[in-house]
Amino acid sequence: MKITQAEFIISAVKPHQYPEDALPEIALAGRSNVGKSSLINKLILRKNLARTSSQPGKTQQLNYYRVNDQLYFVDFPGYGYAKVSKTERAAWGVMIENYLQQREPLKLVLQMIDLRHPPSKDDQQMYAWLKHFGIPLCIVTTKADKIPRSRWDKHLKVVRETLGMNASEPVVLFSSETGKGREELWEVILGAIEG
Ligand code: GTP
Ligand code: MG
Repeated sequence: MKITQAEFIISAVKPHQYPEDALPEIALAGRSNVGKSSLINKLILRKNLARTSSQPGKTQQLNYYRVNDQLYFVDFPGYGYAKVSKTERAAWGVMIENYLQQREPLKLVLQMIDLRHPPSKDDQQMYAWLKHFGIPLCIVTTKADKIPRSRWDKHLKVVRETLGMNASEPVVLFSSETGKGREELWEVILGAIEG
């Protein structure tokens, strides 16, 4: 994938701020610190366009990045951040649910799971919810560089079993450190926006 242009567009806190040009959107969901912003930077080959963990727990912004006048990445606020109040958590839920259920240009959710750990309750809930509503998703396991190659399969199995995935569902093994999975993930993304 050749990147000719990549820019930050907006931190949207309300739906009326979402872009109106109807370009396809790829959303990134996952726990705080799982590596969402790092993955965007790696995909678009910019070191720091998506801010990495500057403000953990920022619960109510969807960060939009436009790539090649072709698509948007929509970086969700991370879930499962401990220091967030109940009220904020509820507001997060409402915003995300509305977006996921009603956003017409949404083509795919990349649900990101840290390969090192079994998916959390939040991860399991998000996965079940996306499935329930028939939202197209691809599981991406992050930080593969932190696990020896010989143990990748074992960790992938735990992720699959904990989420209750079908054997036929693909998982992309990713590392923002080494770039592993980058081309494969671009293929999944382009397939989703062209399909
Ligand atoms: P929030 O915005 O807080 O929800 O976090 P995030 O999901 O955007 O995570 P972020 O990309 O900021 O990464 C969190 C930390 O993990 C940073 O210190 C990254 O450098 C590190 N990190 C992310 N991806 C990888 C990876 O693939 N390998 C390694 N070794 N570190 C990673
Ligand atoms: Mg982030």
